[in-house]
Amino acid sequence: MLRRHFLAAFLAAPSIRLGVIGMGNRGTSLARVARSIPNVEITALCDIDPARQMGFTDYRKLLDLSNVDAVLIATPEQTHARIAVDALDRGKAVLSEVAAAVTLEECWELVEAVERNRGFYMMAENCCYYRSNLAVLAMVKAGVFGEITYADCAYLHSLPGLGYTKPGVPTWRGRLMNDTANWYPTHSIGPVAQWLDDRFATLTALSAPAARIAGVIPYSGDANIALIQTEKGKLIEIRIDIVSARPTVSTTHYLLQGTKGVYRDSEGQKSIWLEGVHKENAWGDWAPYEDKYEDARWKAEGGKAKASAHGGADWFTLRAFFEAVALKQPSPIDVYSSVEWSSIIALTTASVKEKGRPQDFPKFRQAGRARG
Ligand SMILES: NC(=O)c1ccc[n+]([C@@H]2O[C@H](COP(=O)([O-])OP(=O)(O)OC[C@H]3O[C@@H](n4cnc5c(N)ncnc54)[C@H](O)[C@@H]3O)[C@@H](O)[C@H]2O)c1
Repeated sequence: MLRRHFLAAFLAAPSIRLGVIGMGNRGTSLARVARSIPNVEITALCDIDPARQMGFTDYRKLLDLSNVDAVLIATPEQTHARIAVDALDRGKAVLSEVAAAVTLEECWELVEAVERNRGFYMMAENCCYYRSNLAVLAMVKAGVFGEITYADCAYLHSLPGLGYTKPGVPTWRGRLMNDTANWYPTHSIGPVAQWLDDRFATLTALSAPAARIAGVIPYSGDANIALIQTEKGKLIEIRIDIVSARPTVSTTHYLLQGTKGVYRDSEGQKSIWLEGVHKENAWGDWAPYEDKYEDARWKAEGGKAKASAHGGADWFTLRAFFEAVALKQPSPIDVYSSVEWSSIIALTTASVKEKGRPQDFPKFRQAGRARG
């Protein structure tokens, strides 16, 4: 179907009634984006904090409503899987903020909830909808980079203050930073996983010392670096660092290496180098490639999206969810990808505890799971 046919079908479908659970920074921002999408009606809001006065403080009451078809979960990461499972068990379509789950047990529970309910689940990994990342995906599919051999990706911020409200009092992020190693992997790994189109096999990880904010809150390390090998033997490096003293020029970093060339998006600078096209000793200009390989969705609706956060990617993430639910299409970021990417939290944590010992990815797609 052509993009304009999808658009017409979406507009003709009955409107989707959305409940938003968790109205902090992210929930508030995404609710604003949802209101700008045609055919979406927000029918209920919930936040556990009564001071926010959202109508519901217990999400289960919101899930009981018959005028809620779908829920957006924008609560702390540690609560996503529980709320998503409850929503799926009540027949609601789920769009969950990242990560999908924190522990491997939660990952399996999510998979099982989707399977037993034949439910609709999508993780809202907005970096997969960046205009540049979608253009790279189109180029990979067109063979521009040749065979992909490795990638590296990172999430880089300098926000140690997000971890605590005052010395010794951690926020939900601070608790995750303490309890796990790479606690926020999906912005880095999501686009890379789509480019590589392979299953993750094994991971090994080590952490830097917790030097910068030691003493303020307990913290597992200023940075964590993991190496992932895919089933076809491709290599991925994934790093997180949100506390070191450094400028935040861009929060995400990507590099994709193929046999014919390389793409790099680092510190806000995007460049490309293709053998036989670019000079031997200099990166080439990326902009013409991003235009040439622009995704059909960006072509059709990029103007509307640009006003939303993350350069328009948030708008496309929500748009993809509502369109797939309305037209009964498969989930654009289904539960298997969501838990595979999110399981990096548990696997980096386990590997660091065992001094870098490799950890196998569970086979989430295997029928009748073999629980590890
Ligand atoms: N995709 C992105 O670019 C992006 C950006 C920022 C945050 N996030 C994700 O969004 C989520 C929320 O982040 P945030 O910055 O808004 O955090 P936040 O702390 O500002 O907001 C979380 C809200 O959830 C509420 N809450 C907690 N437990 C709840 C429960 N059981 N039921 C209902 N409400 C509950 C809290 O009271 C709070 O208002 C996190 O998962 C985070 O990882 C994603």
